[in-house]
Amino acid sequence: MPSQDRHIRNVLKLFDANGHRHDRYRLFSDCMELIALSISNSVDLCSRPDREVRYFEIVGRYDRPAVEMFAQVFAEITMALEAGLNDVLGHIFTELEIHNKNRGQFFTPYAVCQMMAQVTLGGADEAQALIGAKGFVRAMEPACGAGAMVIALAEVVRAAGINYQRHLHVTAVDIDSRAVHMAYIQFALLHIPAHVIVGNSLSLETREHWFTPAHILGGWSARLANQAVPAGQQTICALPVPNKQPAHLPPAAASGPGEQLTLF
Ligand SMILES: C[S@@+](CC[C@H](N)C(=O)[O-])C[C@H]1O[C@@H](n2cnc3c(N)ncnc32)[C@H](O)[C@@H]1O
Repeated sequence: MPSQDRHIRNVLKLFDANGHRHDRYRLFSDCMELIALSISNSVDLCSRPDREVRYFEIVGRYDRPAVEMFAQVFAEITMALEAGLNDVLGHIFTELEIHNKNRGQFFTPYAVCQMMAQVTLGGADEAQALIGAKGFVRAMEPACGAGAMVIALAEVVRAAGINYQRHLHVTAVDIDSRAVHMAYIQFALLHIPAHVIVGNSLSLETREHWFTPAHILGGWSARLANQAVPAGQQTICALPVPNKQPAHLPPAAASGPGEQLTLF
């Protein structure tokens, strides 16, 4: 995908050009958080007051060229994902060589994610059966990284002739907030309905909740709360969804009995 490669290279050049004035790890993390905050603040009115404060706290650390660079990175990532579904940020993160070996942040190559998603979902008939009368299928990713597995799943759902923007809902968790910011940005730009959580999938503790524009604009909190799912049906997941929810989310929205469609 040449045009996608070009935009990815442009992002790498922007970090190279500005990396000497700032710590590269911090620069990348702050850039991801700012982009995630800008997207969230355009749709998530409940979280906006605190997130506005956080936005200005981060921006205040940088001079004008750096802030302009963040906007350019946002534009390049948007255009890269416009060119096709892929783990654009996971690729950039790895190319910048800032992945954290201690936290095991080696993201799965996208071609492997595609193969795994295909095996998980099966063909168009299986996908349609999963969606069934309820009209959607839910996926759970308990260690999402930048979101490669979810993006590949969306691609496979689309290849089955199904609009993932209407018929797939994702809950994704990562213990590392920077991974969550990356996943959130990619899901938001691809218009994947998703609830992305900073949390520990083993202890089920949660710290932050990020709802994509597709989740909020599609009324997914109500849609999920209104539809009970029979045990053992309509799922793609490995672990139960963490049970602590933000106040504005109906309790049933992020957990339902027997909802499992395994992504890894
Ligand atoms: C090897 S990466 C895989 C990411 C993604 N699933 C992929 O295939 O590209 C593992 C991810 O799990 C996250 N992680 C590790 N322990 C976790 C935990 N207890 N709860 C949630 N996420 C965790 C790490 O931060 C890291 O992003």
